[in-house]
Amino acid sequence: MTKTLNVAMIGGGFMGKAHALAYAAMPMFFWPAPAIPVRKVVVDINPAAAETARQRFGFEEASSDWRAVIARPDIDIVDIVTPNDSHAEIAIAAAQAGKHIICEKPLARTALESKGMLDAVNAAGVIHMVAFNYRRTPAVALAHKFITEGRIGKILNFRGTYLQDWSADPDSPLSWRFNKKIAGSGSVGDIGTHVVDLARYLVGDISAVNAMTHTYVKTRPLQSGGVDKLGAADKNASGPRGAVDVDDEMLTMLRFANGAVGSIEATRNAYGRNNFLTFEIHGERGSIVFNYERRDELQVVFADDPAEVRGFRTIYTGPAHPYGDGLWPIPGLGIGYTETKIVECYDLCKAIVSGQQPSPNFADGYRIELIAEAILHSGQTGLWTEIPA
Ligand SMILES: NC(=O)c1ccc[n+]([C@@H]2O[C@H](COP(=O)([O-])OP(=O)(O)OC[C@H]3O[C@@H](n4cnc5c(N)ncnc54)[C@H](O)[C@@H]3O)[C@@H](O)[C@H]2O)c1
Repeated sequence: MTKTLNVAMIGGGFMGKAHALAYAAMPMFFWPAPAIPVRKVVVDINPAAAETARQRFGFEEASSDWRAVIARPDIDIVDIVTPNDSHAEIAIAAAQAGKHIICEKPLARTALESKGMLDAVNAAGVIHMVAFNYRRTPAVALAHKFITEGRIGKILNFRGTYLQDWSADPDSPLSWRFNKKIAGSGSVGDIGTHVVDLARYLVGDISAVNAMTHTYVKTRPLQSGGVDKLGAADKNASGPRGAVDVDDEMLTMLRFANGAVGSIEATRNAYGRNNFLTFEIHGERGSIVFNYERRDELQVVFADDPAEVRGFRTIYTGPAHPYGDGLWPIPGLGIGYTETKIVECYDLCKAIVSGQQPSPNFADGYRIELIAEAILHSGQTGLWTEIPA
């Protein structure tokens, strides 16, 4: 009999949907599954949202009291999909209750909060994962494989972007994502950290940054409460407005510990760029290019390709590539956002069953928060800022 793992998911919003889909679908893709996740309890601070999430996302029970749910002996995994201001409190309590934890990114609002979470999971000896799911796109994992195998040689340069436009319209609503007290930061924490995770995964750790940060849209229409609204579809140009106190644009140069150089741009103001998460990596023996908007494809060029055919070729990921044994049987059928979360769930369950920490875990999440803080600090001072060891 395959082991079962009972999940308590805290938060029944956008990411709640993505994680619930992954719990349901993971054993349909990866079989034999390392374990079967059971959607036991969904918790939302808003009782009506909890009950709606129970019905929609297929959980057995709904609750609005995460403390009571975390204390239950039948819960194995606590899944934190709440806004960033509650990650630390919930994760520390879950660790103290001996639960395995997956927490959405960014790990917390600050490096200090993240450090408290890391200390708690280390003290408890539980499995912990931070949900930077984009590295679980098969094409990204293939890029990692090529780099690890030395196919493009020593890495010289990483250029990453995360460009979005869901909030480019200044009249789109004031989501919690524009509030420093809840979010911690804006483009840096929300989308920039995804690129920092890819940079660390593919190239190595970052030792210093030199950044610019900016807030172009300084007020937005207040929301009426209830479900958080994203984007211009819900815009309300005539209502009262509230202040935006986080960055919506950042550019940073990077110095990697291994001597490579690089840059990251993240913006919420890029009309026409929907989820333009990209990287271009140059090595001494070749280059690799990825764009999440074309997530089945990886472009590569190798220096030892014959000169008359040398140029970027496009690989369509499929069964021959990482995670290909579980996903779809033919290249080009196409994966979506859900598949990255299914793979994340698979790796989490494998980690719990094997007792081996997955990556990225809270130690990575804490490093990424240190880098995010250095970017914000450099954005204020204009100075190169070293990341503490
Ligand atoms: N990995 C990704 O690609 C990705 C994408 C979007 C969001 N996120 C992250 O996921 C997390 C959640 O974001 P979202 O988009 O799902 O937000 P959301 O606003 O859609 O949903 C959050 C839900 O949590 C509930 N909630 C708030 N505080 C709570 C508390 N203390 N206890 C219980 N429930 C509470 C809210 O009522 C809401 O239903 C954030 O950390 C965000 O940065 C990650």
